[in-house]
Amino acid sequence: MTSAKLVAGNWKMHGTSADLREVQAIADAAHALDGRVEVALCLPATLIHRAAEAVPGFPVGAQDIHMADQGAHTGDVCAAMLHDAGAALTIVGHSERRDAHREDNSCVRAKAEAALRSDLRVILCVGESDGERGSGRAVEVVCGQLDASLPGGEAAAGAVPDSLAIAYEPIWAIGTGKIPTTEDIAEMHRALRQRLLAAYGDAGGQVRILYGGSVKPSNAAEIFAIPDVGGALVGGASLRAADFLPIVEAAAR
Ligand code: 13P
Repeated sequence: MTSAKLVAGNWKMHGTSADLREVQAIADAAHALDGRVEVALCLPATLIHRAAEAVPGFPVGAQDIHMADQGAHTGDVCAAMLHDAGAALTIVGHSERRDAHREDNSCVRAKAEAALRSDLRVILCVGESDGERGSGRAVEVVCGQLDASLPGGEAAAGAVPDSLAIAYEPIWAIGTGKIPTTEDIAEMHRALRQRLLAAYGDAGGQVRILYGGSVKPSNAAEIFAIPDVGGALVGGASLRAADFLPIVEAAAR
């Protein structure tokens, strides 16, 4: 298990072939950092194959998968297809999917297990709403999400800690420029660590817990210095190498 931080970009519904040059620039810079930080890009499904061919060895990922291994699911893409296209990892349970696609914890858990069955590493997202933070229930809500979404059974055996990362992404911090206080991030990561230890024993102590939500070059170093922040899941600032690489470099220090 590496102790290097993991910095993953989530391009969401952005990016066409013209943007492969950004992928190339990010992969080249990541390679030069020589394992001091692990970098990955979760791209739109349409770019995964071309990106994987363009930057061999650099981890290209998906942003979602279907929970089934195959079947009559018009328009959906399963883990084995993404793996075949060159994906090394996938996000599951992003709040934008939990919300817009009504994905509940059991759906997220099934997706995480499907990903691991097809040799995709998993970044599993959890996070509270503005109202939940305001009412003092953030830790309880997010730990409840984690407990109910964690992969279990055969899929998880052997996959934890290396093939699983958790991303704590407060919904109110995504794309808003707002971030929680250092103390609030530390408190949440501490609580999530306890849940991981309860679920997986010692291996749960080594699962990386990323922070996500308005991570920028200007706040990255401060976020990475918080105890038990094992990296970041970055949205808007991952689209351009010029914005993303200072974040990656902050994690390498
Ligand atoms: P932003 O970095 O744009 O706030 O997005 C965070 C996010 O949702 C990453 O998954």
